[in-house]
Amino acid sequence: MPTVYIIIYSLYHHIYTVALDVKKGLEAQGVTVKLFQVPETLSDNILEVLHAPPKPDIPVITIDELSNADAFMFGIPTRFGTFPAQLKSFLDASGALWATGTLAGKFAGTFFSTASQHGGQETTAYTLITYFAHHGINYVPLGFADSNLFDNSEVIGGSAWGAGTVANGDGSRQPSEKELTIARTQGENFAKILNTFHQGVKLIESEKEVEATNAAEPVKTAEPVKAAEPIKVAEPVKAAEPAKVAEPTKTVEPVKEANHTEEPKQTPRSSQPKLEEKKDSKCFCM
Ligand SMILES: Cc1cc2nc3c(=O)[nH]c(=O)nc-3n(C[C@H](O)[C@H](O)[C@H](O)COP(=O)(O)O)c2cc1C
Repeated sequence: MPTVYIIIYSLYHHIYTVALDVKKGLEAQGVTVKLFQVPETLSDNILEVLHAPPKPDIPVITIDELSNADAFMFGIPTRFGTFPAQLKSFLDASGALWATGTLAGKFAGTFFSTASQHGGQETTAYTLITYFAHHGINYVPLGFADSNLFDNSEVIGGSAWGAGTVANGDGSRQPSEKELTIARTQGENFAKILNTFHQGVKLIESEKEVEATNAAEPVKTAEPVKAAEPIKVAEPVKAAEPAKVAEPTKTVEPVKEANHTEEPKQTPRSSQPKLEEKKDSKCFCM
């Protein structure tokens, strides 16, 4: 199954909370998921000034690890309407991966968090897309796949660009159940697209293997089937030529000779067949 890396930056854990539900959605479709955070760039002093809690207990990713994943889900809290410098700093180190085309053809999605409803949910996702374009990564938006995106009865983060939450300026609002439902939907849909793509790739690879095997070892073909001997048919019996019957010889009128009689000639007895000889004869016509 494909592997998805969820890569986040989360100062007050709102993005981290949404990430856990995106992960649930992905895992529901059988993909392998690993959750990472990008390295912090702010000093401890600044973090203290910002009242930042301890970081989520997940590994910090290195740029080379990106090559191990089939896809990425980026979790990004907005900073002045764009994605945070921590992620930019991380991705700006991906030049070698870009030069080798290592990330080309992989997939990515985005989810986000803002302090207010109109603080930049869509622009935050939008500004990250230039990285996907330059690396040749396929961006997969959420669309309006979850009906909660049509619900205007309460504040609900998220958009066609992905799941989202609204944290309030002081961070007091936590992701709502509807926002987390959208997050799971996004995870599931993303995984379905990824699975479909990978099954197609596997199919093509297995077909290529079969072709390569066939090319290496020519398949023994059966002896060509000889055309069946045509059944001998007896020559049609030629209708017998009707026997030529001789024209009856016209009997010549004996020349009448006056006054001349001649005794009929007697066949000599010796030339007549003997009776005994006739008996032994196999001729039944006698
Ligand atoms: C320097 C800075 C700039 C911010 N810019 C915006 C902003 O433009 N719009 C907004 O709605 N929230 C803004 N916020 C609030 C964060 O987006 C909010 O704290 C974050 O989404 C909470 O997510 P987290 O708990 O995962 O860090 C800003 C916060 C900081 C620290």
